Amino acid sequence: MSINSEILNKLVTILGKEYVFIDDETRNSYGHDETEDFVFPPSVVLKPANASEISQILVLANEYKIPVVPIGGRTGLSGGALCIYQGIGLSTERLNRIIEIDEKNLQVVVEPAVITQVLKEAVAEKGLFYPVDPSSMGSCFIGGNIAENSGGARAVKYGVTKDYVLNLEVVLPDGNIIWTGANTLKNSTGYNLTQLMVGSEGTLGVITKIVLKLLPKNNYNVLMLVPFYSATEACEAVSAIFRAGIMPSALEFMERDAIDWTLKFVDGISVQVKEGIKAHLLIEVDGNYPDILMQEAEKILTVVEQFEIDEILFADTEDQKNALWKMRRSVAEAVKGNSIYKEEDTVVPRFELPKLLEGIKRIGNKYGFKSVCYGHAGDGNLHVNIIKGDMTDDNWQTQVPLGIREIFELTVALKGTLSGEHGIGLVQKNFMDIAFSKVHLELMESIKRVFDPNNVLNPGKIFPDNL
Ligand code: LAC
Ligand code: ZN
Repeated sequence: MSINSEILNKLVTILGKEYVFIDDETRNSYGHDETEDFVFPPSVVLKPANASEISQILVLANEYKIPVVPIGGRTGLSGGALCIYQGIGLSTERLNRIIEIDEKNLQVVVEPAVITQVLKEAVAEKGLFYPVDPSSMGSCFIGGNIAENSGGARAVKYGVTKDYVLNLEVVLPDGNIIWTGANTLKNSTGYNLTQLMVGSEGTLGVITKIVLKLLPKNNYNVLMLVPFYSATEACEAVSAIFRAGIMPSALEFMERDAIDWTLKFVDGISVQVKEGIKAHLLIEVDGNYPDILMQEAEKILTVVEQFEIDEILFADTEDQKNALWKMRRSVAEAVKGNSIYKEEDTVVPRFELPKLLEGIKRIGNKYGFKSVCYGHAGDGNLHVNIIKGDMTDDNWQTQVPLGIREIFELTVALKGTLSGEHGIGLVQKNFMDIAFSKVHLELMESIKRVFDPNNVLNPGKIFPDNL
């Protein structure tokens, strides 16, 4: 059903005409996220003010069978916010208040369009800590983090978004508004709808309020960059660090190309990478007692020195730490700036990481593509950027999907799965059969039908086309 003037008039009545956009510029700008170079403009962009308006929009969408796609900060990497069937692009951007920082209970109540970094800084001012730190935290929305169950570098010690979500106000696809749980740290009361919403990629409801758990802020950290002469050895060192009894607050892996490309792309970072270095680990420990952190750092040294490494760079100042983190967080953008690419978000149990990396390179050789790998090695979460480079369009279209399928088959054979933190969205949906049986997928799809019998909310995502 296209959006005719009758429907538009009804939308204007709900939102007011200044929040209903049909011009090309707005539609195009809300038609993409950060997934490859996809652009799927909605027919109309809506900017509702609150849950009640969102509810009325969804009631109307059901009446006229119009697709509605919730849109947050547009930083997603799996195409969850793309309006592939046009319809309504529902931007949450006006719901951007931090409603309450509850210092007594270490909780915060926010609306979905609060930028993750703004939230982190606001609670930090009260001595509190929201640890989840996706690389896009300077522009992504907390609502989108919940929709995709985002992770980040600190997930290895502190967990991912799901570990902090206590309760959600959600507008269901039929327009009803519910709170999914309670503002408690424990809850054994009925099905866990809160966690069902987390990671549901805007297919089960529109999140309008969020209650998050916080931690007390810690004060110290030590950050080091360790260059390895073998990428496989860098991966082997990862599980060895944990087995030595250390719980790093970040343990990131970057292949040589990831660093080289990023250094060219980002100004003001001086890291010398010697000839022969194949990969780096960026390792952080944090806590409240500097002496203990130094002891932990020394223990990490004794582990990594068992491998062939070059001189370790310790970040002595806040500026150096920020520069190293900026370098790490800019890898995705740097790769994007360098070539047409596809990004996979593979994840395996940590000890299997060397096998995953070697397998990815083997599969790349077989299908004729280069890959640049980096990511959250401590979580076994490796981002695989497949580079078009000088591959022909024909090979890019035909060979690369076969290679991606093999990479995912490998992750599942290693007891891992398709996505650690970017979601399935549009671009991975046709690989879901690798991770799940038909029974499993149909069970998930029947959950979707219970919530959204008319399939109006973010249709065409997560589930394979031929299910
Ligand atoms: C990162 C994003 C791409 O790790 O997940 O930089
Ligand atoms: Zn990541």
